[in-house]
Amino acid sequence: MVFNIKPYERKIFELIQLSANELNVPVYVVGGYVRDRLLARESKDLDVVCVGDGIALAENLASKLRPLPYIAVYKRFGTAMIRHKELEIEFVGARKESYSLDSRKPAVENGTLEDDQNRRDFTINALAVSLNEDDYGQIIDSFNGFHDLENKIIRTPMDPDKTFADDPLRMMRAIRFSTQLDFTIEPITLKSIAKNKNRINIVSKERISTELEKIILSDRPSKGFKLLFDTGLLHLIFPEMAALYGVEIRNNIGHKDNFYHTLEVLENVCREGANLWLRWAAILHDIAKPPTKRFDPILGWTFHGHEALGAAMVPRIFKKMKLPLDNKMKYVQKLVLLHLRPIALTNDKVTDSAVRRLLFDAAEDIDDLMTLCKADITSKNEGKVNRYKENYKVLMEKIKEVEEKDHLRNWQPPISGDDIMRIFKLPPSREVGILKTAIREAILDGEIPNDYGAAYQYMMEKAKELNM
Ligand code: CTP
Repeated sequence: MVFNIKPYERKIFELIQLSANELNVPVYVVGGYVRDRLLARESKDLDVVCVGDGIALAENLASKLRPLPYIAVYKRFGTAMIRHKELEIEFVGARKESYSLDSRKPAVENGTLEDDQNRRDFTINALAVSLNEDDYGQIIDSFNGFHDLENKIIRTPMDPDKTFADDPLRMMRAIRFSTQLDFTIEPITLKSIAKNKNRINIVSKERISTELEKIILSDRPSKGFKLLFDTGLLHLIFPEMAALYGVEIRNNIGHKDNFYHTLEVLENVCREGANLWLRWAAILHDIAKPPTKRFDPILGWTFHGHEALGAAMVPRIFKKMKLPLDNKMKYVQKLVLLHLRPIALTNDKVTDSAVRRLLFDAAEDIDDLMTLCKADITSKNEGKVNRYKENYKVLMEKIKEVEEKDHLRNWQPPISGDDIMRIFKLPPSREVGILKTAIREAILDGEIPNDYGAAYQYMMEKAKELNM
């Protein structure tokens, strides 16, 4: 492992050393920056600990930087933050912390560097690098963090029960780092997460969602979800997803384990480079399977309506998790609602009008819907998978063909509601809606071509039928 730093970071370190020297306080770089540099990962946050007054050190450094940087001082926490070039540099005086059991607000006392390393979450985050003149660049590794980095291990520096009691979010952070870095959580640490899982209830939903998002955005998020499930955390932070787990057998008929199926679908969309929201759609596509599950003596297990109920569950889940309720949520909801439509088309004959409807309903999200749909083909039966994939190919070609012919993506019918009101001198009313829907349906069904003249003529006939 090499400690690779950039030239402008070296310059900053020299200035920090100078500033600390002037104040006569020992100073160290700690935390995620050290970890990430040793792993050759990018990191924009730099945590600096001094054995003394962190705010005074930040102010002294700031006075030496040009242009004068933005400096935020948090007196209550004894910390300060400077933004300089691409770096966010956080300053704190070394401290001892002890937390009370019912809150995560720590009582803070000044301490030594060792006290400060002691209170950190994981050994790989408790490495410090000296910026002092006499031992500049030396790594201070009180908990074998270097060994754990090399062996890809997540372990707490102290008794994990204490580390997790101090800040229960660390249980999620352990799983997040394990997923992001592809590290293994050391068994005693892992056991402690399962044991202390209920403490997650004192952590705010926002902090939990931030960690969950980092898990979801990892290369292999299923690792994190399995750990969340196995430790019991998932049942507390996302019970709807935990409910997907398990197989029920009746009359010798079982169904898919929808938890593992969902993880497979999630991995599949990740391989296609999915963004956060398409990943959420994969996670939620079958979320209503447990509440819609029925056993029919003839059909076996059915999940009728799980796409519609799932779509209805999306805003509730987003709200509970403090996720955005704007168009991102609406996008996820739409994909959940439509996720069966392409497959349903491939089972029947793929007619032009069915494809037109699909294009109209999915609009600009048709490509993502098709990615989700392809990712959803996970049967163990190879013949079935191949048949679905072949059907999927046929459907993709058909979509391309219909699109080229009818240009239905982001399509609006050639006569709008406003046009109808103007032509018939009508106020906004039920009649306007009836005519508008009739025109749209006639075009989507292929009854009339997608142009103004045909739509106008059709509208006039329809109006006559309705005595307008
Ligand atoms: N830390 C901790 N307990 C927490 C959060 C943070 O002990 N609940 C300590 C760790 O030493 C961590 C450092 O504070 O390395 C900085 O925290 P943060 O910026 O949240 O995380 P990073 O480790 O830098 O990782 P990332 O940027 O990926 O979140």
